[in-house]
Order: sequence, then structure tokens, then C-alpha cells
Amino acid sequence: MFEIVLSGIRATGRLHFGNFLGAVQNFVKFQKPGNKCLYFIADWHTLTTLQSPEELRGNLIEIVKDYIATGLDPEQSIIYAQSSVPEISELCLYLSMIQPLGDLERIPTFKDLVRKNPDNVNLGIVTYPVLMAADILGPKATLVPVGEDQVPNIELARSLAGKFNSRFGETFVIPKMMQQMIRVPGLDGGKMGKSEGDNAIDINFPIPIIRDRYLKKGITDIERKRSTDAGDPYNRCRSVYSVHELVTAKEVETRMVANACIAAQIGCVECKHRLVDGIAKILEPFQEARAKLDENDSYIKEILHEGGKKARVMICETVSVVRDKMGIVIY
Ligand code: TRP
Repeated sequence: MFEIVLSGIRATGRLHFGNFLGAVQNFVKFQKPGNKCLYFIADWHTLTTLQSPEELRGNLIEIVKDYIATGLDPEQSIIYAQSSVPEISELCLYLSMIQPLGDLERIPTFKDLVRKNPDNVNLGIVTYPVLMAADILGPKATLVPVGEDQVPNIELARSLAGKFNSRFGETFVIPKMMQQMIRVPGLDGGKMGKSEGDNAIDINFPIPIIRDRYLKKGITDIERKRSTDAGDPYNRCRSVYSVHELVTAKEVETRMVANACIAAQIGCVECKHRLVDGIAKILEPFQEARAKLDENDSYIKEILHEGGKKARVMICETVSVVRDKMGIVIY
């Protein structure tokens, strides 16, 4: 079945290895004949928590470079900045008229943002999921791949679409959600995140730096005091072994590392070296492609300009139907 695939990412920082394996590589896979793919940078959503204009502008361009170097092809995918399509915010406003406030205050992602930003509980945080619904429903996305933390937001978008359709007649497509299964633990074993402290691996770090970070900070089996003790990679290794499972090319090789750890044949340092060798194999071709884009901001801006135009056509079509159904006339 052909899909209109859509996903967004906030520009709060640079992409890390978790975004790369869990999200962007997955985006690339949807690029196939028949599918329409829309991948955007949610710069308005970024403003809910990040208030440095320079950082926002810089991150946005850098993320698009990462997208292209990973394999997103501007000929096949529509790549744009959310703010290039002002009608998304107009749609958000219309949707906010049928969205009860109570649901928004109860949603776990709202509570999470409030917990992380207690000094800045702005209205944008409350309407965050409504803006997401506008992102999704505007271009009539059929499939939305997201991380686990975004599930409540997508559910809200689905229910909002249903609510609008039953009140005003069939207008929106109810999108399917696809949970991205790959979860890459950070160096400390917790969730790898741009805002989760110092536990992320930036995909643009030189490999020697990544190696150094794993050697110094990667948390392995803390009960394994000496390399002659047997380790328990499956249950006690908090960050390194689970990343092996994701990056080591063949399952037998992963199993070999685990067995060698259990049999106390390799120590954690050796294991970390092998892990970083695996990461290097994945990141080197990416970094090579990425280096070519380094000095080419005008090419990236051109991609965003063209992507914005294409997305705008799709979204404007929906918004004009919504205006009409709600009684808004542009005089
Ligand atoms: N809130 C999402 C995140 O932080 C980003 C996002 C914004 C998004 N709009 C979206 C994701 C629409 C999917 C669909 O990850």
C-alpha cells in the first residue's frame, strides 16, 4: 500500500546516534516509488523550550545536512521547515477550537515538558499536541513514524481528526502511527537524548572522540570488577552490550561478544573497542557524505525553500476546505 509518510524533529540540538539509527535511517527506508514522504524540522515546536535564535537557526540547517547525508533525497522526499508553511499555524488555530483543554493538561507529554521546564510553562507547551495534529493532518499523512515518547501526541491527533470529521463531515485522514522500535541507550544506560545530560553520541563526532567517550563513560556490568570475572551482558551491561546488538553487523558476531564476556575471555575495554569499530563502520560513510555538505548552506536553504513550497501546496488545499467547513471566508 502507498503511504503519505510524515515525521518531524525538533531542532533543540544536533542529531545523536539514537536519532540516526532509530529515526532518520528509518525515514530513508520509506523513500520508495508510490510513497510520498514529508520530513520536516519542527522549528515552532522547538520554541516551546529553546529560546536562542542563533541555536535554532544553526541546528535547523545542520539537521537538514544530517538528513541529506543519511540518504534522504530531496527529489524523493519533501524536506521543509514547519514555519515555511504559515497555514500550519492557521490549521492549529482551527483545531484548537474543538480540542478540550482538559485533555491537553492530562497528556503525559505535557506533564513531562512541565517537569523539565518548570520555569517556563508557556501556552505553546499546552497547545504542543494540537500543533502536531496540524502538522500531520494538513498534508493528510497516512503513516507517522515516531518514538515511543510521542505516542500520546499521535493519539491525540487521531482523535482530533475523528472529532472534526464527525462534527464537520469527512475532511481529515486518520493517520496510522508506527512506533520506531529501535531504542539506543545513552552512555549511562538511560535514554540517549539531546536534553538528557551528557550521555549522547553526536553523529558528527570524530570516531576517536566517540571511542574516548565510550571508554571513559560507557557503563558496563558494574558487578564485574576484573576482566577475569564472568560478565552478564544480557542483564547487567547498561549501555555497551545493547548497542552491540544494534550495530554489530551479524547476529553471530554479537553472540560471540556476549559469550566471550560471559566466559570472561574479553574485558569491557576490548568490548568497547569492538563496539566503536562497529559504530565507525556505520558512521564513516555518513560522515564522508556529510563533510561534502559542510560548506554548502546555500544548497540546504534551496532544499528547504523548494520543500516548503511543495508542502505548502498540499497543506493549503486542506486548510481551504477546513475554512470553508467552519464558515471562514477570506474576503
Ligand atoms: N514532537 C515531536 C518530537 O519531539 C516532533 C514533531 C513535531 C512531530 N510535529 C510532529 C513528529 C508531527 C511527528 C509528527 O519528537
